[in-house]
Amino acid sequence: MLRRMLADSVIRPAETTTPFGQTRTMTDPATTIPTFDLFAHDLGADPHPVLHRLRAEHPLVRVRELDGYLATRHADIVAALRDRRLTTANLTQGLDRLTPEQRAELAPVLRSVSLWMGHTNEADHVRFQQLLKRYFTPATVHGLRPRVRQLADELIDAVVDRGRMEVVEDLAYPLPANVIAEMLGMPTDERDRLRAWSRDILALFDRADFDQLKKSQHSVLEMEGYLRGLVAQRRAEPRDDLLSVFVAAEREGVVTEDEMVANCVLLLFAGHETTANLIARGVSLLLANPDQFALLKQRRELMGTAVEEMLRLGGPAATIVRVAVEPAEVAGHALNPGDVVYLAMAAGNRDPEVFADPDRFDITRRPNRHTAFGLGTFYCLGAALARMETDVCFSALLDRTPDLRPAYEQPDLVYRPPLNHQLATVDVTF
Ligand code: HEM
Repeated sequence: MLRRMLADSVIRPAETTTPFGQTRTMTDPATTIPTFDLFAHDLGADPHPVLHRLRAEHPLVRVRELDGYLATRHADIVAALRDRRLTTANLTQGLDRLTPEQRAELAPVLRSVSLWMGHTNEADHVRFQQLLKRYFTPATVHGLRPRVRQLADELIDAVVDRGRMEVVEDLAYPLPANVIAEMLGMPTDERDRLRAWSRDILALFDRADFDQLKKSQHSVLEMEGYLRGLVAQRRAEPRDDLLSVFVAAEREGVVTEDEMVANCVLLLFAGHETTANLIARGVSLLLANPDQFALLKQRRELMGTAVEEMLRLGGPAATIVRVAVEPAEVAGHALNPGDVVYLAMAAGNRDPEVFADPDRFDITRRPNRHTAFGLGTFYCLGAALARMETDVCFSALLDRTPDLRPAYEQPDLVYRPPLNHQLATVDVTF
């Protein structure tokens, strides 16, 4: 029945007049790309039947509401991520659809976001990568492991006697938030503010309304003001933290203060929001797959491949956005400069051409060529850190609460269009 409904409604063929606009003829006049009305579908509970069908039948569609294309095949996503003619779109879903008056009012946050690594021009991007790679080395990440375990243990200590916890609030958020705050050198008692700031920043990536965007701007500016104070302290008294690395680079003339604080906001936000979602999704995947959970308990050496499988099926970045800076192709179709394409990793990472039995959660899967951290030029700076934090977090959970059980009937999933899903709560008992 569902298949039938999909057949009738998912794809609007080129010749169909839709209430949402015309299909667009690409540079090759013989090729038309169908329009897909993504927002007319209930992708909240389970988007995968729709994504599987799209990938199989129309791996590139135009989505009018996104003002761009959506690619769903793994090979096309990998090729696009490696293609230098496509670059990161300096887009957040909120900020790219403003009127000129609204843009004027949000000028401060627009400027900050334009300084974020990956949102700059290529030369600035390389300069930042080189600077941050001084700190995000495998040795630094490895060295943090015992401290991350200690932080995880402290969070579990706080709930262990209760026999229950809400994973998102009690563990998944505070763990990576504390880690990145500590890396940057943010004092412990000020870290609670991070969560509220980050929630507001997240709204920039949603289809948020103008009032919410003003609130987001307020949080970004508040966070920057706070960071400027910390920067001043490090200038006077450097320490062994990331902020001091930035301050040293400022002294060498490599970064400005504005760049420094804008990118600290990015790191504080990117450094925990994504990892927190991965941990929450990982718990719910294990609980939904008791055979795999039992296997992981028996064979702890599978933790590494288990984390990769969590990234593949529950990777927090469901889409990556690219814009063509010169004529290019995606999925065999020509793109013009300025064309925007959403790479649906949520679909590519379940492509049966690459992953056998793609919807199955298999903690032994190897190889596992998912693109949850992106690929190529903009590959995630924090990938090793996120992997380590997730590994340590699940090791602590297995040691301390091995009989974890769900205390919910349905996962408490929040859908954030176009394709993101996030767990609001994960109640467990043990
Ligand atoms: C599970 C956790 C994480 C996921 C799934 C994730 C995902 C991603 C993805 C997909 C990209 C590429 C974006 C693009 O190509 O346009 C990216 C880039 C980036 N990520 Fe992560 N990330 C995670 C954790 C982290 C952490 C912990 C940090 C920092 C401490 C971080 C910092 C960054 C930065 C700075 C970039 C931009 C890199 C560049 O432009 O060169 N991420 N991330």
